[in-house]
Amino acid sequence: MNIHTYEKLWLAAAMVLIVGFIATITYGSVGVGVAMIDDSEATLDPNDLGEDERFAEPRVEHVGDNEYEAYVVARQFIFQPNPIEVPAGSTVTFYVTSADVIHSFSIVGTNANTMVIPGEVATMTVEIDEPGEYGILCNEYCGAGHHDMEGLLIVHPEDEFDLEGEE
Ligand code: CUA
Repeated sequence: MNIHTYEKLWLAAAMVLIVGFIATITYGSVGVGVAMIDDSEATLDPNDLGEDERFAEPRVEHVGDNEYEAYVVARQFIFQPNPIEVPAGSTVTFYVTSADVIHSFSIVGTNANTMVIPGEVATMTVEIDEPGEYGILCNEYCGAGHHDMEGLLIVHPEDEFDLEGEE
């Protein structure tokens, strides 16, 4: 069988594309720094967040030198706590869950953006460098008050920050 040179070239190009697509998909699911939502973590009851030790009191906790954990509850049509306050130069891990329907937790001007699903905990670690005020928005339509659902992240200059209740 005689295959024309151009046809061979097209065949080779198609193979390269197919391998490229497979590589892209593979990287997108198991590549360095790529995290998928998994279902290994226990779910929680969105109607009973008051009984959950992480979310009964939405708050920011100081867990290490420059490390903070924020436990955030999204509900129609607010974020708790509000505002969320942390110092500049810190690493903050946000744990976000919903008390009712699907929301999102999106920090304006950053790439921090996650869906918030009732029963699930979205986890996101963010390096916070610059002092300032950042809006927090809900990007998932969640009901009549969706467009008013917003929060505030206040990043204080490092030397002026004092987490309430800390000695
Ligand atoms: Cu919450 Cu839209």
